[in-house]
Amino acid sequence: MKEIKIESKLYVFDSLSELPNEVRSLMEKAVEARDKAYAPYSKFNVGAALILDNDEVITGNNQENASYPSGLCAERTAIYYAGSQFPDAKVLRMAISATSKNKPTVDPIPPCGACRQAIAEYEIKQETPIEIYFMGEIGKIVKSNSLSNLLPLVFDKNLL
Ligand code: THU
Repeated sequence: MKEIKIESKLYVFDSLSELPNEVRSLMEKAVEARDKAYAPYSKFNVGAALILDNDEVITGNNQENASYPSGLCAERTAIYYAGSQFPDAKVLRMAISATSKNKPTVDPIPPCGACRQAIAEYEIKQETPIEIYFMGEIGKIVKSNSLSNLLPLVFDKNLL
């Protein structure tokens, strides 16, 4: 038996003003998208904005459904749209912001496991890292240089 140690490096920015301009403007687009989310059941609004290597910016937000599992997260709404409209473009980075009507979201909100798996698919397909930035409603922002830092031991197409 041997031990395997898994480590990830993440970076924390104190506020939006600490972000490089292009990242701040992407996060602002995620916030705009967040405020248009359709989340009447959870009251938890999430917005995602991503930028492609052709300079297109795509946004998405969570879309809920009375049949709860039929809803979709913001990150997948955005990345599936990008994949469907620009199949040959690479995703450079994604910004995510979430807010709850039930309690203040002061901590950065990371993407859920299913969204990590979905984003990983595109990172592996395009063979270049996707930067991920995530935030709560406002406040600290966490940066990962690659989705892979958020999903060690990914299940990917090379295993099929
Ligand atoms: N949600 C997202 O949009 N992204 C995530 O990464 C986590 C959860 C949505 C799904 C649901 O509409 C609400 O947040 C509560 O789970």
